[in-house]
Amino acid sequence: MSEGIERLARNLWRSDSAEATERLGELLAPILEEGDVVILEGDLGAGKTQFVKGVARGLGADGEVTSPTFNLLSSHEGGRLALHHMDLYRLADEGELGEAGALDVVGIDGAALVEWGEPFADALAPERLELTIVRDDATAGIPDREPSRRIAIRGVGERGEEMARALDRLGYR
Ligand SMILES: Nc1ncnc2c1ncn2[C@@H]1O[C@H](COP(=O)(O)OP(=O)(O)OP(=O)(O)O)[C@@H](O)[C@H]1O
Ligand SMILES: [Mg+2]
Repeated sequence: MSEGIERLARNLWRSDSAEATERLGELLAPILEEGDVVILEGDLGAGKTQFVKGVARGLGADGEVTSPTFNLLSSHEGGRLALHHMDLYRLADEGELGEAGALDVVGIDGAALVEWGEPFADALAPERLELTIVRDDATAGIPDREPSRRIAIRGVGERGEEMARALDRLGYR
């Protein structure tokens, strides 16, 4: 396994650095297939965008993955699959998903990675992978040190469970 990223238990990982969280995204990339949806949960600054950067690297997607300020959707082509990166933090209700262009791509084209997508998860995709990133209590509060992160994985629906199992298998070594 790569430096800084460790599988602690079934569907549970620990990441010691931003780069390690990216690495987990890079490990997920080859598992993703056309129409797959990944929902990313976690507080502001938890590492959701960092994870998406790793997926982009793993897919070979063009362009830099950033935190979108006004546009809810940014699409990155050029890789093995298109990467549709969404941040729904500012989305007030489900009705706005169509306007944002989400319904044209999520679950249809490429892989969709959706930050703050939990309230809209059922509307977006019945089958999906869900990641929750939290700061690790055991390392929080140590001066001058970023707390490590716990990353919990949940597969919803048949395809979601398949993705979760495939990622989990990569942590056995
Ligand atoms: N183990 C870690 N995993 C991920 N990020 C980490 C880790 N340790 C430190 N960081 C830092 O935490 C920050 C995570 O920022 P990021 O933009 O990925 O968060 P986010 O969850 O997308 O937040 P937002 O909800 O604002 O979009 C970065 O500055 C990153 O360098
Ligand atoms: Mg973000």
